[in-house]
Amino acid sequence: MRVSILSPSVNLFNGYLAGNNIGHSSVSIGDLVEVFREETIRKTMDPKAVVYEVDAFKPVEDGSEGGLFFGVTRINSGAVGKEYFMTRGHYHTMRNRCEFYWGISGKGLLILLDENRQIKVEEISPGSVNFIPGYTAHRMINTGDGILTFGACWPSDAGHDYEAIRLHGFGVRVIKNGNGEPEILPEA
Ligand code: F6R
Ligand code: ZN
Repeated sequence: MRVSILSPSVNLFNGYLAGNNIGHSSVSIGDLVEVFREETIRKTMDPKAVVYEVDAFKPVEDGSEGGLFFGVTRINSGAVGKEYFMTRGHYHTMRNRCEFYWGISGKGLLILLDENRQIKVEEISPGSVNFIPGYTAHRMINTGDGILTFGACWPSDAGHDYEAIRLHGFGVRVIKNGNGEPEILPEA
């Protein structure tokens, strides 16, 4: 029997994924209309400034049952007004679908919001692992001075529902306070 050795197409060490079945997306200030508290400040910023990028390895068809997807997100350091750069955040369309996040570089906070609007905030740092239960919206926030890079693994039929967040928000906002520290405020 002859067994050949294949090179892996995904390498996590540098926080970038490249190879077959890997898609790349980039989210800029101009894409994040009414996501941050200070919409008037966002409108004055360069719409092309990148807030975060996602590389997603999709070895099976999007929406197929039983598969897994694997992604890396890089959130730049920055803020809109005092509010740190963050992901848009979403529920999974299939609400019971779970996910793992893990820290690769930088530091941040993961906001978890369940359907009863109960909020949990977890820290993320290199090597940390966060479990996102089903029925729970998730948003990652870069509270550090460098790029926050994290990995994610989720079911291929989970889907993304951004609309519920657009309509009802996350319940809290994370801002840089006068001491330069993250502070969690109720959403106005
Ligand atoms: C997949 C997942 C992550 C995010 C990514 C960008 O289910 O949670 O890969 O999709 O971090 O965040 P959003 O999708 O909220 O813009
Ligand atoms: Zn998700």
